[in-house]
Amino acid sequence: MINVAPSVLSADFTKLKEEIDTLEGASWLHYDVMDGHFVPNISFGYGILGNLRKVTDKFIDVHLMISDPAFYAPKFVEAGADLVNFHVEAMDSVEETKALLKQIHDLGAKNGITIKPGTSVEAIKPYLDDVDLVLVMSVEPGFGGQSFKESALDKIKQLAAMKKDHHYVIEVDGGINAQTGQLCKEAGVDVLVAGSYVFKNPNRKEAIDSLL
Ligand code: DX5
Ligand code: ZN
Repeated sequence: MINVAPSVLSADFTKLKEEIDTLEGASWLHYDVMDGHFVPNISFGYGILGNLRKVTDKFIDVHLMISDPAFYAPKFVEAGADLVNFHVEAMDSVEETKALLKQIHDLGAKNGITIKPGTSVEAIKPYLDDVDLVLVMSVEPGFGGQSFKESALDKIKQLAAMKKDHHYVIEVDGGINAQTGQLCKEAGVDVLVAGSYVFKNPNRKEAIDSLL
């Protein structure tokens, strides 16, 4: 079964609750956190997540694009994240990465590990037994509205081939629309993140349905 995770980054922040209420058919919500250091953009933090948590029952998937996920991940769990994923490129060692994955679980949330377009699946092999989700970036993290990079498809296929020995789901993020979403589904993806494609369509349900 495919899940769609609309990315809050493309919503109209002046009316966030109304925006979320239009997302019928999507059981997840993708929450992009940017610190102006790991990526050249700044979005929103755990305070706004706490507000959002009060107005939606959707499964909130927090994507940390920040340099210090070990310090901040617990704050996002506390604010109500259902899942927190962070970038392998932000971590210094396997031990530190495994400890953070475990800490997220111990705090009661699901965890995930994320790779940028330039990072291979090899880099996250040590964690595949420990994660609930693997996020394959199909654009350089930092901005919505970029074009899908086809190199993500091969990584999704590799992860799908290894999935039977593990329990993770595969998510893809960046440049997803009905066409690129279809390619990802054929490659074996489970969760499609979509920002601009969903929010630029006045008929949100139509956009979401076209991805399912
Ligand atoms: C990019 C973010 C994405 C972004 C996707 O750094 O991680 O989640 O919101 O936006 P679209 O779907 O417009 O590429
Ligand atoms: Zn994202």
